Amino acid sequence: MEKTAVIGAGIMGRGIALVYALHGWSVALHDTSEEALEQAKSLIGTDLMLLADEGLISAAECQATLDNITPTTSLKEAVGDAGFITEAVPEQLALKWQIFSRIEAHAPATAIIASNTSTLPLSELSRQLAKPERMLITHFFNPAHLVPLVEIVRAENTPDETLTTLLNVLRQAGKIPVVLKKEVPGFIANRLQAAILREALHLVESGVASEQDIDQAVTAGPGFRWSVIGPLETADFGGLDTWQSVMKNLAPELDCTPTTPAVLKEMNRRGQLGVKTGQGFYSYPDRQTIAGKIHFRNLAFIRLLKQHRKE
Ligand SMILES: NC(=O)c1ccc[n+]([C@@H]2O[C@H](COP(=O)([O-])OP(=O)(O)OC[C@H]3O[C@@H](n4cnc5c(N)ncnc54)[C@H](O)[C@@H]3O)[C@@H](O)[C@H]2O)c1
Repeated sequence: MEKTAVIGAGIMGRGIALVYALHGWSVALHDTSEEALEQAKSLIGTDLMLLADEGLISAAECQATLDNITPTTSLKEAVGDAGFITEAVPEQLALKWQIFSRIEAHAPATAIIASNTSTLPLSELSRQLAKPERMLITHFFNPAHLVPLVEIVRAENTPDETLTTLLNVLRQAGKIPVVLKKEVPGFIANRLQAAILREALHLVESGVASEQDIDQAVTAGPGFRWSVIGPLETADFGGLDTWQSVMKNLAPELDCTPTTPAVLKEMNRRGQLGVKTGQGFYSYPDRQTIAGKIHFRNLAFIRLLKQHRKE
């Protein structure tokens, strides 16, 4: 059994811990408070129960997976014998640097260190490490135990065998890793998501359609196709001559504001942060509504995952 450690037991850390524990590895899950760890373990339990209800794992696997996760408030204890360590603390460079230097001090010299950063460049993250070549980015997607994609960023001097070990770890854990050829802010998927969100916000601001209809135009249209073929293959099927005309006519019409969209800033100013404050583009009046929506979303993701695994 591989020994791994996950630092930070929030939304992403607990999901990543679950990914490795589900595949039989021993996972030390570290956070700064007992309370955060207790909450993480309880939410992991809920996720496991849904996987069992949906027949993806047995009741025995459910318990074994929980037993594979050892919560600890000691970083030293968490990384002491870990061969593979994932950092998932908040997106603040200084905090991540502080964590990395403590990992270097206490982890085996051969351990691979992976960061789950969404935006920080690998060259910045690894700058203060004694051995920067042992660090890579593994960018998971929420919920990490269900979404197959993990984007990988390697440095020029990352040894090929480190990358190969990492890819093996992720594939064995049932993930689909995609390796970037060079460092770029937002990697692949977040750049695409941000481009679509910018245009969706522009459509909201321009009063073109309701929020519900804009979302449905994606889920029932391009989103339906994209879970099977990506945008480039979709363009191939549509015909690149057609897409040349589409781009000629539409490119000048698309929003290309180089700053944060005004509607997003305004909603933040009003404290409308989405699920976490009960109001975003939609209303989430109470915890029960939110739990119900997350349950419905995860159930739909599990069904999609089952379909993926059959293919
Ligand atoms: N939320 C997402 O959808 C998402 C997706 C992909 C990547 N990410 C990235 O993953 C990372 C974590 O994001 P998140 O959404 O899980 O954040 P989060 O706030 O849900 O969780 C962060 C956790 O880190 C803990 N923490 C803070 N300081 C710590 C320390 N010094 N030592 C140990 N633990 C500490 C916090 O207590 C918290 O439990 C960020 O870099 C974020 O950009 C987030």
